[in-house]
Amino acid sequence: MKTEVFNNLNSLFLSAAQEVFRAIRLKPNFVLGLAAGKTPVLLYKKLVEMSLAQKFSFSQVTTFNLDEYVGITKDHPESFYKFTQEHLFKFLDFKRTEGLNGAATNFKNECIRYEELVQHSGGLDLQILGIGTNGHIGFNEPGSEKSSRTRLVNLSPETQAKIPHPNFEKTPTQGLTLGISNILESKNIIIIATGATKAEAVKNSFSAIESKNYPASFLQSHPHCTLYLDQDSARLLKV
Ligand code: GLP
Repeated sequence: MKTEVFNNLNSLFLSAAQEVFRAIRLKPNFVLGLAAGKTPVLLYKKLVEMSLAQKFSFSQVTTFNLDEYVGITKDHPESFYKFTQEHLFKFLDFKRTEGLNGAATNFKNECIRYEELVQHSGGLDLQILGIGTNGHIGFNEPGSEKSSRTRLVNLSPETQAKIPHPNFEKTPTQGLTLGISNILESKNIIIIATGATKAEAVKNSFSAIESKNYPASFLQSHPHCTLYLDQDSARLLKV
C-alpha cells in the first residue's frame, strides 16, 4: 500500500483524478467502482471538469456503486445511486452505471445478481473508497471479515447517526455493500481520507496490523492500493 500526503485538497484530488484518467486511458473498457459520501465529491468534480476540458470520453466505461441504503429505491433523493447520478452520471457519458437495489424483495438474490454483474463485466479495475470514522469501507462495519462478500448488513449506531435525515421518513438501519473480499479483488484501489475527523480512523486502520475492528486495515495487503491523505487526516499516522 502506498501512502501520499498532500498539502492541500486541490492537489490531492487533482492527483487522484489523474490516476483515474491514466488508468482509463490504458484500458478504455474500464470498470470503475464508485463510493458515495462527502469525501469523493471533489474527486468527481475534478473528473467532470477534466473530462470536459480534455473532451475525454467515458463511453466504454462501466461503473459499479459500492453500497446502498436498504429500504429506498435508486431514485430516492438520498440514495447513493442518486448521489452518483448528481455528481457524475449526469455529466459524463458512461456506457453503464450499475447500483445495488436497496428496494429489492430478496436481498440475497440481489447480492448474487450484483456480484455476477461485476464478474461478467470483467471485475473491477479500480475501486474508489472513502473511510468511515469507525474505519468502515462501504458498509463493511467493524467486525466485518476479510472474506466477506456482497451482503445485507446492519449499520452501526455511529454510521446511522451520520445519515442526513431530512429526506428520509425513517433513517435507514441496514445497507447492501460489496464485501471486503470483493473490494480486495479490484485490481487497483484509491482510498481517500480528508479532515481531522478522519485522523483517528486513519491511524487505527493503517498504523497497526490488519484487524476486523477497522475494516479499512485489510487494504494494507492489497498490492495496488494508494491512500490519499491531507495533512489533517494524516496527523496521527505513524509510517
Ligand atoms: C458512508 C459510506 C461510505 C463512505 C463513508 C464516509 O457510510 N457507506 O462508502 O466512504 O460513509 O463518508 P464521508 O466521505 O461522507 O465521510
